[in-house]
Amino acid sequence: MARGLRKGLTNYGDEGFALFLRKAFIKAMGYSDDALERPIVGITNTYSDYNPCHGNAPQLIEAVKRGVMLAGAMPMVFPTISIHESFAHPTSMFLRNLMAMDTEEMIRAQPMDAVVVIGGCDKTLPAQIMAAASVDLPTVVVPVGPMVVGHHRGEVLGACTDCRRLWSAHRAGEIDEAEIDVVNGRLAPSVGTCMVMGTASTMACISEVMGLSLPMSATIPAPHAERIRLAEASGQVAAKLAVEGGPRPSELLTPSAFRNAAVVMQAIGGSTNGVIHLSAIANRTPHAFSLDELDEIGRKVPVLVDLKPSGAHYMEHFHHAGGLPALLAQLGELIDLDARTIGGGTLRDIVATAEVVPGQDVIRPRTAPIKPQGSMAVLYGNLAPGGAVIKQAAASERLLQHTGRAVVFESVEDMAARIDDPDLDVTAEDVLVLRNTGPKGAPGMPEAGYLPIPKKLGRTGVKDMVRISDARMSGTAFGTIVLHMTPESAVGGPLALVESGDMIRLDLAGRRIDLLIDEATFARRKAARAGEAPAPLPERGYAKLFQQSVLQADEGCDFDFMTAPRRKP
Ligand code: FES
Repeated sequence: MARGLRKGLTNYGDEGFALFLRKAFIKAMGYSDDALERPIVGITNTYSDYNPCHGNAPQLIEAVKRGVMLAGAMPMVFPTISIHESFAHPTSMFLRNLMAMDTEEMIRAQPMDAVVVIGGCDKTLPAQIMAAASVDLPTVVVPVGPMVVGHHRGEVLGACTDCRRLWSAHRAGEIDEAEIDVVNGRLAPSVGTCMVMGTASTMACISEVMGLSLPMSATIPAPHAERIRLAEASGQVAAKLAVEGGPRPSELLTPSAFRNAAVVMQAIGGSTNGVIHLSAIANRTPHAFSLDELDEIGRKVPVLVDLKPSGAHYMEHFHHAGGLPALLAQLGELIDLDARTIGGGTLRDIVATAEVVPGQDVIRPRTAPIKPQGSMAVLYGNLAPGGAVIKQAAASERLLQHTGRAVVFESVEDMAARIDDPDLDVTAEDVLVLRNTGPKGAPGMPEAGYLPIPKKLGRTGVKDMVRISDARMSGTAFGTIVLHMTPESAVGGPLALVESGDMIRLDLAGRRIDLLIDEATFARRKAARAGEAPAPLPERGYAKLFQQSVLQADEGCDFDFMTAPRRKP
């Protein structure tokens, strides 16, 4: 098989000429023949002025290059799309599949024997791992790392659990304009990803436990020198993979690895977005990620990591407490320690070297968990026949068994227009319902599931209500919030049938979310909606492709033509 610069030559009908031409062009960069004969390690560059989370990417790239060269291979950096949560309209999720396709095709198109993908902001690691699973070239994942914490009035705070908490306090009139402006400059004090257990941290932990990243890669703070050394070490590993040809993603992304990822996601108080991304990654492999298995794991695996939004601390504290290896040591037999890692050994080897930090209280023993059950639960019922997810670890205990009157919003725009209307007919015991916010409905399934508490209730001290939608929610958010209702309302899911004033029951113990209307009324409303014309398709471009091809939340919202071939109907 062709290696290095000889891989994937353009076919002019003369292979010698194709290589001659390729070398002639690349020599314009000043490379020697010695350099061009080496195995090649590709390195993705996701730096962007629009992506402060990846602000340290240039430094990490330099360190990876150094590692590759120290090990005798040739690094080649290439750009791909970069996505930041706050700078991707209509939503970053809309672009995740585009980034996965871009990354996959650029890895396929250019000559390389291994690749290092550097990412971190929420959608980037999932997109890169989806691409890696499809290309199946040896891949090392290097997360950019979490931000360090901020401080305000003696309080430790950070992006973006505290963004939401303090903004809610501002909405409720507890924090004035001048103070919220000061807070705004203190929530994200460095480059790196959100330093709570949001989606970025969840996906970095998942990458580490699935063996795609080196130990401690999820938790080392972005600005620390240790992260630069980790990048250098990752480059060295990638050079070795380029020579040896593996392990490949297909050798690491096994059923055990997916189960281990689910166990860790439950134990860290992981983001609900991780469920969608893991489903999408699994659908790029011969293996399935089952919502039912996730729920079953959640009944056995307690939340052990005390991080916001479920707990009190931040990623740098998790790191100083021993990081993921120390957590795996606590999880013991709940993890398959024989799972392989990119470094060549198994998780057992990593656990054997886990640091024991005296007196740390961030990673709890199983005898004293933060929450007795896992981070999230999976619900079914007549409102979610295809499933829904609730982050029980960040919910209000008293609302987990609750029946209330529906207050329905047709769309994000409708919610924005009416939620703070003083005349809105709403009480703290009602259930806020948001629809048309799923993969196709919005489109792109925005993180709109964290419906704000109506201002008039917030001002009376209401901090949480039951909220349900077909949207997603930021992993940094908290509340009694049911998400990913499947199928979504825009494709005829039963959420479309709810009317304001109906009663809705959330029954966490029974794992159900139900609309309490009789069957005849349910059928009549369904028949009435069946006659409605579907929303028109966008006329062109990526939006049209997205609308035609995006799968539902339970299948990971990937495009139907991107899943592994054996999964096609
Ligand atoms: Fe990038 Fe939170 S905005 S990780």
